[in-house]
Amino acid sequence: MSDKLWGGRFELPTDKFVDEFNASIHFDKRLYRYDIKGSLAHVEMLAKQGIIKPLEAEKIKEGLLQILDEIERGDFEFRTEDEDIHMAIEKRLKEIVGDVGGKLHTARSRNDQVAVDVRMYLRDVVEDVKKYIKAFLEVLVKKAEDNINVIMPGFTHLQTAQPILFSHYLLAYFQMFKRDFERFDDSLKRLNKNPLGSCALAGTTFPIDRFFTSELLGFDNPTENSLDSVSDRDFVLEFLTNASICQMHLSRLCEELIIYATSEFNFIEFSDDYCTGSSIMPQKKNPDVAELIRGKTGAVYGSMIGLFTTMKGLPLAYNKDMQEDKIPLFNAADNLLGSLKIISPMIEKMKINREKMYEAASKGYSTATELADYLVRKGLPFRDAHFVVGKTVKYAIDKEKKLDELSIDELRQFSELIDSDVYEYISVENAAKNKNSYGGTGLKSVMEQIKNAKQFLQAI
Ligand code: ARG
Repeated sequence: MSDKLWGGRFELPTDKFVDEFNASIHFDKRLYRYDIKGSLAHVEMLAKQGIIKPLEAEKIKEGLLQILDEIERGDFEFRTEDEDIHMAIEKRLKEIVGDVGGKLHTARSRNDQVAVDVRMYLRDVVEDVKKYIKAFLEVLVKKAEDNINVIMPGFTHLQTAQPILFSHYLLAYFQMFKRDFERFDDSLKRLNKNPLGSCALAGTTFPIDRFFTSELLGFDNPTENSLDSVSDRDFVLEFLTNASICQMHLSRLCEELIIYATSEFNFIEFSDDYCTGSSIMPQKKNPDVAELIRGKTGAVYGSMIGLFTTMKGLPLAYNKDMQEDKIPLFNAADNLLGSLKIISPMIEKMKINREKMYEAASKGYSTATELADYLVRKGLPFRDAHFVVGKTVKYAIDKEKKLDELSIDELRQFSELIDSDVYEYISVENAAKNKNSYGGTGLKSVMEQIKNAKQFLQAI
């Protein structure tokens, strides 16, 4: 004899280790609130449709609310034998309200139940992610505004390329996280559909009202095909994909800041309260928080790839494999939310070393392109100008001088077109501030970007 809720057709009790292996309760217990919410809506619908009696519904609702209270007070015992959160709550319900508790599961299966629970959980996670990304976008704009005159080297191949405004750099990240925000936001319209009432896989002969439960649970509408509804985990995969992209952006930013915080670069300094020390080297101040955000990217990608692999090849409809969706989902959500929460104050409090940035921006012949453009303005084709400047740079390297340290006579050795107004063009300051093509690093363009960023933030 089996003492399980589904034990009717079993002669033997479940093997002890099978119980353990099969159970998801130790991780899916965090869905308890959503499970109870879904059951409350389901029972209300059953009563409205005359499938159960109003008094029975009242009893079941009271029992469910008591269970909610017990769990929140820490008085609920989560037992491995109960398998999952759905069975644990139903079992307790029967203990509290008696046999009428068994009516809750009319016209429902754990297959649609778990799908609706996870969708509700994920909807809250996505709202939190959006909230944290928005807060971070605000930090980036504020920092860009406060440091509008700071010039830094822009890199390609991590080699000095051209001077840029530090604000332009921050606003590049604004764009990435803005797209992340939009991706999460967009995912809601696919996520926010109600699978409850799809039952095991085929729907039901009971006259249920899926539009009513959708309304009660805040879904836009019911899902359209019962078979798809219980076997679909696209919404989890979409979240994991969006989370991976967002975590990748966080990781790239952290990687750069870790480099910029080294004594070799010294562009920025993290606040003490966002760093840790070394147990042996007294001088050390390590950027652990930034490193951890970068490191957690592995767990987020792993979650995404793990679930894609779990889902690959699953026949319709529900298979127990899908129980494994929650481990990567919770893991990725926790890592992403934690990273997003901590990045805002970390960036807000980080100090900018404008002198060091400027000094670096003026090294590495970062205004060589400016000199070439200068010659182009004087009529030389760009390719020829590129060649002439290449020669000039080689000469300057040999003389151990910066470009603007070469005298006018030295410069004119390479082209007669060069006049003394050239110094204006090749100044680091002007090289950064005058690139006002749409989306460029120039001051006007960056101010425009800040204005647009603020408008976006006001609208969301
Ligand atoms: N714990 C299960 C899960 O998370 C609930 C659904 C179980 N359904 C079933 N037919 N065994 O997937």
